[in-house]
Amino acid sequence: MKMEYWSDGVVGTLFRYSSTPLLQSGFMRIIEHISEMQDWSEGERCQGRRIVMVPTMGFLHQGHLSLVRDGKKRGDRLVVSIYVNPKQFGPSEDFVSYPRDFDRDRNLLELEGADVLFSPTNEEMYPAGHQTYVEVENLSTPLCGESRPGHFRGVATVVAKLFNIVRPHAAVFGCKDYQQLQIVRRMVKDLNLGVEIVGHPIVRHPDGLAMSSRNAYLSMAEREAALCLSRALRQAETMLKEGETSSAVILERVKREIAREPLARLEYAHLTDTENLLDLDHVGDGSLLALAVRIGKTRLIDNVILRP
Ligand code: PAJ
Repeated sequence: MKMEYWSDGVVGTLFRYSSTPLLQSGFMRIIEHISEMQDWSEGERCQGRRIVMVPTMGFLHQGHLSLVRDGKKRGDRLVVSIYVNPKQFGPSEDFVSYPRDFDRDRNLLELEGADVLFSPTNEEMYPAGHQTYVEVENLSTPLCGESRPGHFRGVATVVAKLFNIVRPHAAVFGCKDYQQLQIVRRMVKDLNLGVEIVGHPIVRHPDGLAMSSRNAYLSMAEREAALCLSRALRQAETMLKEGETSSAVILERVKREIAREPLARLEYAHLTDTENLLDLDHVGDGSLLALAVRIGKTRLIDNVILRP
């Protein structure tokens, strides 16, 4: 059955049209309240359906939507959460200015065939008196953990809460935030959460820039400058192909490439083990090369897995 979609143009919602009568179950459900989300999941689980979840902070791009498509193939019901989690932003970070466009996100998710859009309020997620946090100790300290203290505690806490609310069988996370993905994997193991964690490859623009909601902050000149991240990663791949395995030599070249770009300021470049995220002297059998770079005021991250 071919589906067609169009916008009603009045309230900005999308209606799904088909040759068969419209069924309410064909629509994406928008859930704001935690209890309603839990009830829905309980009902689906009781009927033996496999629930897959994609947690996001919204302002969706093709990277997010690629996770959504992946998630749809992995179960019977797909839940996407949109929640800009205040607990993972530092006091001087961009929580207030973080880009948001709920109507656009909702339309995109409806087009992708998501079953539920879960979008809780801060009041329900962190009511007065909230004081319980999840901390994944060692994995949270290197890389982004150095310049963003408390960030991964906020991430682990919100993801644990989302898993308890949505009760998914599986959840899809992007390799773009590689440290976050490893932290979530560790947390699920350590706390016996019983959620299968799927890592999805990084989705890039045709010119190499990794897609990110924060790319929206970039001016035209900064957007051009931001290409230095993927360029540096590609150079490292080329060096490895030519036989160079020394971390010091590869990182030196990566740092030089970033330094060539006047609008860029390197925060870190590390070559680490993919599991424990600790620095390596030499590229091993699958190593992580991870970068954080400020382009003007915008902080961007990118990475590649190097395999000799
Ligand atoms: P957000 O930055 O919105 O990202 C949501 C998911 O999309 C993450 O798993 C992220 O790794 C993935 N993603 C973003 N850009 C991607 C790209 N270019 N290619 C592949 N995947 C990409 O990450 C968060 O939100 C939050 O920390 C969250 C996990 C929702 C907890 O608040």
